[in-house]
Amino acid sequence: MDLQAVIDDIALSLAERRGEGKVADYIPELAKVDPNQFGIALTTVDGQVFTAGDATTPFSIQSVSKVFMLTLALGKAGEGIWKRVGREPSGSAFNSIVQLEQEHGIPRNPFINAGAIVVCDMVLAGHKPKEAIGEVLRFVRYLADDETISIDRAVAKSETQTGFRNHALANFMRSFGNLHHEVDHVLGVYFHQCAIAMTCRQLSRAGLFLAAHGHDPISGYSVVSPKRARRINALMLTCGHYDGSGDFAFHVGLPGKSGVGGGILAIAPGKASIAVWSPGLNKVGNSALGSVALEMLAARTGWSVFGT
Ligand code: DON
Repeated sequence: MDLQAVIDDIALSLAERRGEGKVADYIPELAKVDPNQFGIALTTVDGQVFTAGDATTPFSIQSVSKVFMLTLALGKAGEGIWKRVGREPSGSAFNSIVQLEQEHGIPRNPFINAGAIVVCDMVLAGHKPKEAIGEVLRFVRYLADDETISIDRAVAKSETQTGFRNHALANFMRSFGNLHHEVDHVLGVYFHQCAIAMTCRQLSRAGLFLAAHGHDPISGYSVVSPKRARRINALMLTCGHYDGSGDFAFHVGLPGKSGVGGGILAIAPGKASIAVWSPGLNKVGNSALGSVALEMLAARTGWSVFGT
């Protein structure tokens, strides 16, 4: 299969639709991003890289970072993390608070904001916030094999100043005893993790271990066990697109994680790691064109985990 031709075609056929969707503006710094951008990058398990469009422009990965943070937390705290966060789709918005009261401060899954905040609390154990932020950044650089990846301080600051909902979620969970550190420290880690800036090319490289049974086929390192990689993929498939997870599985059929910066990381197990980016979001907060691009890619390659 000529994967370069496939993604060139996708980029070309979406050229006229650039700008579709609505850029996230609840984080003021993200509202400044030019909506007319689209990039796609694909790294295969045999180490080939294919790119099209704005694949080397850095963007705010936002919630896509939750995959890397979960991987880090599982490495530190092991399966014990599931006592403090669930593994079920929430069927509600990424920043919803409604289930938390009935479920005693235990978030439904590690990808909704509440769940990711608990995961940050776990990674913070034994560290100062700055050290935990450094650890996340080092981990992402290691996965992407790229020391140039950085955190966009302006985005982190913008969210620190306006993240009232995340403050509410964190305080609420703290009242149930499900946060062990100071709310400001946990949120400091969370906002900086979300503000990591990466290109599609870097993101597709960083996700490669999930397409290759937990092993990085380029560096030769084992990142996680095959069982853990399979389970992270399962969570991405069921929970990675929030209230749009069912629709994403229906149309694309790949484990995926979206972010409000307009990025999506999708995994074709045994085949490739794919990153797409287009800032305009659909109604449930996932990249509008990114989702369409992945649907086209899955159709053309037959990579859906549900079969061709
Ligand atoms: O906490 C927030 O609201 C953002 N930093 C991240 C949310 C996000 O990316 C949801 N994804 N679609």
